[in-house]
Amino acid sequence: MQDFEQFIGSFSFDSRLAEVDINSSVAHTKMLVKAKIIDISDGEKIISGLTNILKDIKGNWELPKEEDVHYAIEKELIKRIGSVGGKMHTARSRNDQVATDLRIYLKQEIKIIVNLISDFQKVLVVKADENIDVIMPGFTHLQPAQPVSAAHHLLAYAWMVQRDKERLNDCYRRTDILPLGSAALAGTSFNIDRQYTAQLLGFKSISENSLDAVSDRDFAVEFVFCMSLTVLHLTRFCEEIILWMNPEFGYITIDDKFTSGSSIMPQKRNPDSAEVIRGKSGRIIGDLIALFTIIKSLPLAYNRDLQEDKPPVFDSLDNLKLCLEVMKEMVKSLEFVEKRVLKSTEKGFIAATEIADYLARNNVPFRLAHCIVRDIVLYCKKKSKTLNELSLEEYNKFSKIFKKDIFEYLDAKSVANIKTSYGGTSRRSVLHQIKNIKNKLELETK
Ligand code: ARG
Repeated sequence: MQDFEQFIGSFSFDSRLAEVDINSSVAHTKMLVKAKIIDISDGEKIISGLTNILKDIKGNWELPKEEDVHYAIEKELIKRIGSVGGKMHTARSRNDQVATDLRIYLKQEIKIIVNLISDFQKVLVVKADENIDVIMPGFTHLQPAQPVSAAHHLLAYAWMVQRDKERLNDCYRRTDILPLGSAALAGTSFNIDRQYTAQLLGFKSISENSLDAVSDRDFAVEFVFCMSLTVLHLTRFCEEIILWMNPEFGYITIDDKFTSGSSIMPQKRNPDSAEVIRGKSGRIIGDLIALFTIIKSLPLAYNRDLQEDKPPVFDSLDNLKLCLEVMKEMVKSLEFVEKRVLKSTEKGFIAATEIADYLARNNVPFRLAHCIVRDIVLYCKKKSKTLNELSLEEYNKFSKIFKKDIFEYLDAKSVANIKTSYGGTSRRSVLHQIKNIKNKLELETK
């Protein structure tokens, strides 16, 4: 083994915690001074040393490599201010330090990701606004089912990712608990003031059990689960974008920059961006499984296995952020090919349920109405006709209840627009829905 220290270390992947590590060390030092565990002048030296290191890091100076980011900063501090720098680590261990750093880091990231999701939702709402009157076939089992407004379809995703934000905000609450002061595993005999450190670092509360505090990574698992579910939601939309771009559907176009050509087939424009997002879900779900497996059977308290939590956590958030950015831009460029979409509502007898509802409104038990319309559809298939192409006489062969007004129920637009139930696809319901989601998004920014 050439470099054993590198093998057991984490510097190659935890150096992005440098800033939060310095901030948590500054807070810890302030607490040590307040609790009279170290002198004011020593505290000042440490804080100004740390502040300088942070300034240099922000100015692109590279922290010399050590086993991990915590050692690297401590060593650099001692190099700059002398052995007094070693006092910073009083009443603390890297075990509570790393748990603290990761929590601070994820609290910041949760806020960033929630905002990215909101940005994506805003694009969905703008697109929904533009496409209320675009009527497309809604599918169940990927078979034509009933006509829906394209806006309704887009908004389904806006609500889906709304829940992702709520889940992240929930995760935030459980991340917002300070482990610092738990030391290695048992707490410390120094008279520390953990509440003060929590206040300085903006934590809502402090952990109750030092053993739990240094070994708990539930917040990280929950976070990566949130990343996984959000990317899953994106993949569902991506799958549809990919299908809709296939000329068999031809429902949409997206900007060329989200597609690529083929090195051999000159005609191709492939929906690569959507495919990459679909593929990224594999690695993000993999990150979740990695984290689960790292924690499985791990005895209390800290074990070095826990160091391996960072690559999956960082990988999942980096990739989800990329996916959200691309998704937002891709959807911004999405245009429905209205004629084509409407044309395909003529296939698949998607007004059939409406005809059954017509009979049911005229006192036919729905189950019987269902049978009658099934027979009408079979008849149409035999005659190669659409529901629109039948005459009233033909309808009356199946039921005398049909009157001339049945034809008002056969056009996809009107079928969609009479779904006026709350949360339905009618123009009125969709407008209401748009108003609601806009209000929600607006309230969140207040
Ligand atoms: N690099 C370690 C991690 O990321 C820090 C804690 C090390 N603690 C220890 N007792 N070796 O988990």
